[in-house]
Order: sequence, then structure tokens, then C-alpha cells
Amino acid sequence: MRVYVPRDFSACALGADEVARAIEREARRRGITLELVRNGSRGLYWLEPLVEVESNGERVAYGPVSEEEVESLFDRNFLEGKEHPSRQGNPEEIPYLRRQKRLVFRRIGKNDPLALDEYRKQGGLAGLTRALTLSSQQIVEEVTKSGLRGRGGAGFPTGIKWKTTLQAVDDQKYIVCNADEGDSGTFSDRMVIEGDPFLLIEGMIIAGLAVGATEGYVYLRSEYPLARRIFEEALERARAGGILGKDILGSGKSFFLNLYVGAGAYVCGEETSLLESLEGKRGMIRPRPPLPAVHGLWQKPTVVNNVITLASVPVILAEGAEAYAQLGVGRSKGTLPVQLSGNLRRPGLVEVPFGITLEDLLFEYGGGTASGRPLKAIQIGGPLGPYLPASLFHVTLDYEELAKVRGIVGHGGIVAFDDTVNLGEMARYAMEFCAEESCGKCTPCRIGSTRGMELMDKILSGKKAPGSIQLLVDLCDVMINASLCGLGGMTPFPVLSGLRHFPEDFGYAKEEVE
Ligand code: NAI
Ligand code: SF4
Repeated sequence: MRVYVPRDFSACALGADEVARAIEREARRRGITLELVRNGSRGLYWLEPLVEVESNGERVAYGPVSEEEVESLFDRNFLEGKEHPSRQGNPEEIPYLRRQKRLVFRRIGKNDPLALDEYRKQGGLAGLTRALTLSSQQIVEEVTKSGLRGRGGAGFPTGIKWKTTLQAVDDQKYIVCNADEGDSGTFSDRMVIEGDPFLLIEGMIIAGLAVGATEGYVYLRSEYPLARRIFEEALERARAGGILGKDILGSGKSFFLNLYVGAGAYVCGEETSLLESLEGKRGMIRPRPPLPAVHGLWQKPTVVNNVITLASVPVILAEGAEAYAQLGVGRSKGTLPVQLSGNLRRPGLVEVPFGITLEDLLFEYGGGTASGRPLKAIQIGGPLGPYLPASLFHVTLDYEELAKVRGIVGHGGIVAFDDTVNLGEMARYAMEFCAEESCGKCTPCRIGSTRGMELMDKILSGKKAPGSIQLLVDLCDVMINASLCGLGGMTPFPVLSGLRHFPEDFGYAKEEVE
């Protein structure tokens, strides 16, 4: 008899480890033999810890389960899927999950993420197996045709990036996975590494085959200790299973993969800073050009892609570019794992094709605010993403449509706020964040963020001078146009969007800011 309790970091923060131990203890006390599987999370965080039992070949879920409730689960015979106040039925039928279109996340939460045989049984390695029969050019063409764009935030076409590295002539090329997931309200990279690590490994090997790289690095943020442990174990198993190293799946081709853990700087999520850090130096931005695709790690041609980008590749190879490109809208193809957080009733991971409205995400999935108060605004794209008011919730999830309302997709993180939030205070935090995290290389960001923070303090305390607002707008303009990288360049987004949509939170009337 199998019982599943997630080992996912967020589920553990909500008590999954204690629940797992209580289940084992209670089973022992009652003389029941059961197999406890630590799966990944299905991403229904409002139901975590979500315990599942396999009963007559079907899964029955219970959640959220507390340590104290475990005894009553046994009393009511949950091992046979019987009734209990926390019973959710078949997890696949929970509308939140059933309505999604899971490609990257199709396996996550179902099994032990480190069981390689399960990975194969559930369709894993099909993409790699096909890639091994194709030439590098054919793989790049397939990814180009799929329309996949970088999921780290910038949305650059992956096929074009790969083609640049493929065409670069050098004796050594690299694949670097950016797993320095620093955006507030984002966790999809972590979930993949903790919940389906072989998927990332498979995607990186395919990328290596596509551009002619035989070595790769995963740059993981230090704040993800569980992901680190799981990925280290996955690397060992992949090597032992003949997937990584020399002679991948008996093909005669090689790919070597290493894990590198960062030291906690947000700016190391920017690709050139990440490469500096990976080379053992302080994480400072390198001016671009040259692009990493041509001169990257140790000046060698390097593909730097986000976790979700690389994890999207196996399914594209396995099922074909057309199938992937049929999903989504316009130039935003395929699916995006959206991460819902903040003041929502049902926070979690929602993988859906592009084209869904923000409203659908926030209400059909998110369930509206947890506080029951009106939803005032959302921030998409991390701590430096703009705020969008409720009047724009009809906009669809689409790189171009969001850009029309000065929004961004970013890494797919959406943080929701109810009407008690003061967006002036929140926007000030963006300046403070930038001042804290700036690498210091360029003046608009290093000095501008501190001056911006001081100016915001004056404005918010009501001590503003007549020209304060123009000064703030001018400062933002300089930061956007003259910063060397996105950290300084995006810091003004929360400030300007807050000012545009919620001037009253800054102490201004609408006419004063127009
Ligand atoms: P970018 O638009 O300058 O570049 C995007 C990617 O395309 C880079 O890898 C770049 O090297 C590549 N590229 C551009 N032109 C190319 C060409 N002709 N050939 C080959 N490759 C080419 O954007 P950037 O500055 O790299 O990233 C900014 C984004 O990062 C923001 O949109 C933000 O949303 C996101 N971000 C994500 C975070 C996270 O936690 N995931 C944290 C902070 C920011
Ligand atoms: Fe460094 Fe900020 Fe300039 Fe980026 S914008 S290079 S983080 S100082």
C-alpha cells in the first residue's frame, strides 16, 4: 500500500515532513505495513500538505493535512480512500489541476522524483531518444519551429539563441542553466528541480546536442538547499543510469553536467553576472555585446537558458514542434507555468497555454483574495515588475499584449494585493531593493536607486517639494535608459506604474501626475 507525502520545500514549510513522520509512526503503532513515497508537489499549495493514497489503482487525495489529523485519517480508514473532512477525491479531478495543460509539469507531484525507472515509464527520455537520431541543425530547427521563447523573463526566441551558438566555431561550448530564481513570488524552477530533476537534465543534454556542447552547469541559488540535495542525487543516478557522461544511452555522444551553487546575490540571475560568478569571480555585469551565445563561460560560446526553457525542450522533441506551437496565441507559443501568490485564496502553480486572461488566473484559479477584500492590483514579473490595476485584468497572458499595457510576463510570477496595500510604499521598496542588490558597476543604478529611495521617502512622508514628481520621473527615465542591465533598468517599473495607476498612494491627485 502506497502513501504519498510531498517532499517539496514549500510543502515541507507547511508541515509535510511532520505529517510523513506521523503517518509512519501511526502505521507502526497499528501494525500496518505501508510504503511511504516522498513525491514532488502538484503545486496546489493551498491544499498542502496534500497526502495521497493509492487505493484500487486510483489515487485519493487528502489536504491540507496537519500532523494532529493523522490519527483521525487512520481512524476513518483513509488507506482505503474513505470519507474524511479533508478528502479531496482523485487529485487529477480537482478543477484547479484538471483545467490546466501540463507539459513541463505533467509528471510533477505524481511520483518519487528520483525514481529513474518511473521517469522512463512516464514518458521521460523520449525527447532525448529522438534528439539522438537528429543532426544538431535539425534539433535547432525543431526548437525554432516550436516558437519557444526564454522563460527566464526576456522571452527571447530559444531557437535563435541556439542557432547563434551552433554557428560559433570553437573547440569547447557550454550549456548553462540559470536556476538563480530570484524573483519574488516565483518558484517554478525550484519545483522542477525538486519534483522532476531528470527533466532538466534531459533538456540540457538535448541543448548540448543541438549546439555541439559537451559540458554544462546548473547555477542554483543558495536559498534552495533541498533542490541542491535532490539535484545532486539525480546527477549521480543519471550518470549511473548511462544518461549522463560518456556514451549517452549508448549513442557514443557525451555530455557532462555539474551543479554550482551561488552565494545569494540577486544580480547573479543576470546572465553575464552569473557567468562571472561561475568563473569564481565577484558577480558583476559584463557589458553586452559580446553576447554569451558567442563569448560566454570562459569566453567560449555558451547557451544560457532558464530552467523552464530547458525543461520545455524534451516535450517539444518528443511530441513535435507543431503540437507545441498549436498551443498559445500570437507569438507567445506553448504553455507557461504561472506562479500565483500573495493575497489569494488558492495560491499555487498553474501551467496553462498563453492566451488566458489575468482575470481567469486570479479568480478561476486563484479564487480571489484570501482576505475576502477587493483585489486592488497585481505585480507580474518579480519585484521589479509593474503593478497592474483591476481595470487591466481583462488583458491576456501574452508577451505582446502585456507589453501594450506596459506589463511584462517575466518569469510568470503573479503577486496579488487587496485594497489595504499602499503601492507607494511597495514602489519605494523596489528602489530599496535595487540599492541593496546593485552590483555597483554603473551610476544610474548605483546612485539612482539611493537617490530614488530618498525622494520616495520625502514624497511618501508628505514633505514633497513642487518639482518632486518631475524629478522622480526624470530619475526613472535615466535609470531605464542608461543602466547597464535589467536590475537598474527595471527598478523604475513599479514606481512609474504605481504612480500612473494609483497616484493617491503617493499623495497625488490624478491630474498632478498626468
Ligand atoms: P535581454 O532581452 O537582453 O536578453 C535575453 C536573452 O537573449 C539573453 O540570454 C541574451 O544573451 C539573448 N540574446 C539577445 N540577443 C541575442 C542574439 N541576437 N543572439 C543570441 N542571443 C541573444 O534580457 P536580459 O537582460 O538577459 O534579461 C532580462 C529579463 O530577466 C527581464 O525581462 C526579467 O523579467 C528577467 N528576470 C528574471 C529573473 C528570474 O528570477 N527569473 C530575475 C530578474 C530578472
Ligand atoms: Fe550593476 Fe545595477 Fe548597473 Fe546592472 S544596472 S550593471 S546591477 S549597477
